[in-house]
Amino acid sequence: MLAYKSNKLFFDNHSIESLAASYNTPLYVYSQSVIESNILKYKNAFGEFSPIICYAVKALSNINILKVISGLGCGFDCVSEGEMRRIMQFSSNLKHSVISGIGKSEEEISFALENDILLINIESIEEAFRINDIAKKMGKKAPIGIRFNPDIDGKTHSKIRTGTKEDKFGISQEDILLNIKTLAEQEYLEINAISCHIGSQITELKPYIDAYKRIQSLLDNLLAQGLKLEYLDIGGGVGIQYKDENLLSLDDMAAAYKEHLAKYNLKLIIEPGRSIVGNAGILISKIIEIKNQDSDKPFIIIDAGMNDIMRTALYDMYHQIKPADTSEAKKVTYQIVGPICESSDIHSKNELMPKQKNGQFLVILDSGAYCASMSSNYNTRPLASEILITNEQTKIIRKRQNYNDLFKNELL
Ligand SMILES: Cc1ncc(COP(=O)(O)O)c(C=O)c1O
Repeated sequence: MLAYKSNKLFFDNHSIESLAASYNTPLYVYSQSVIESNILKYKNAFGEFSPIICYAVKALSNINILKVISGLGCGFDCVSEGEMRRIMQFSSNLKHSVISGIGKSEEEISFALENDILLINIESIEEAFRINDIAKKMGKKAPIGIRFNPDIDGKTHSKIRTGTKEDKFGISQEDILLNIKTLAEQEYLEINAISCHIGSQITELKPYIDAYKRIQSLLDNLLAQGLKLEYLDIGGGVGIQYKDENLLSLDDMAAAYKEHLAKYNLKLIIEPGRSIVGNAGILISKIIEIKNQDSDKPFIIIDAGMNDIMRTALYDMYHQIKPADTSEAKKVTYQIVGPICESSDIHSKNELMPKQKNGQFLVILDSGAYCASMSSNYNTRPLASEILITNEQTKIIRKRQNYNDLFKNELL
């Protein structure tokens, strides 16, 4: 999707300079065709199991993106009432969506039940009893998935790892087996599924195989006790290429699923986020100033900060950065930083690129996932705008915030 033509960078056939001129910066740009092809990869790899793909809304939550994904036959994995309400902007129910996440409030649980959620993935035994009480008040049975914590390290960054016993997510095999009889007896719960998500940006197959083996042992136990399940939710998708990672292929993941879990004949749910939208998005930013132009490693200060894209500051993640214009022959190693008053507001400490000037543009790659959705108003900066490219046409899908938007809830 990214290509240089006569020293100018293009994304999905649109020149970065013309996008920046039309929509201003910082600007998130997404390609619908990349999202479509990423979803197709899951459909192809897992095709024989007819998977229910529940896209993880938190990765990129813009309603227009969700609507596109829904149009491609996917449901959603939500983690809050806000995310469920996003789905309800274009759908009349949550029949194809699940809700996961710890600390679901009474309002969130009621909202999910009112709108016919497919599954509420419980993260503790205590939560199951809370849901039973809420469902009883509503006179409606709650469809439950039990989130299993298999105590497997996904070999990813510790801040996006969710499957070890030190992590706050899910329930251990021991606790599930100890409580399953009581849970199954709750009048307003229907235990329909086991779910398991061991973390994000996983690039090796082994943790999945290890987790699948533990799911196998859990299922053998539960089924032997006569529990009837309908779904098996295997959590998020594969990691993506930010730099030079060796990636785990979807075919290998599907083969591991086939070997260990297909025999249970449960309906398969997958909840990919990053691998659906990560490489479908870029962030375009303008060079405000180049500080110490003649030093060994000058700073390029751009107008996108850690408030717009916080993965680097939050967990030291690297995103490649490309200049929109490569016409200068001389190359310089730059440090790329944002304008936020925090020393952690650094996008890259080492970027070799053709010499740049003020007013030119840099592009932060692979910023479709966990970037715009994590952005904030820190330093009282308005949220960037987002555009979507569909069949060569560009469309604004989120207007840039203005200062009135920013201040409107603060009462003087
Ligand atoms: C429960 C759950 N499902 C799915 C996902 C999506 O994971 P990924 O974006 O790596 O596919 C997450 C994110 O960590 C999650 O917490």
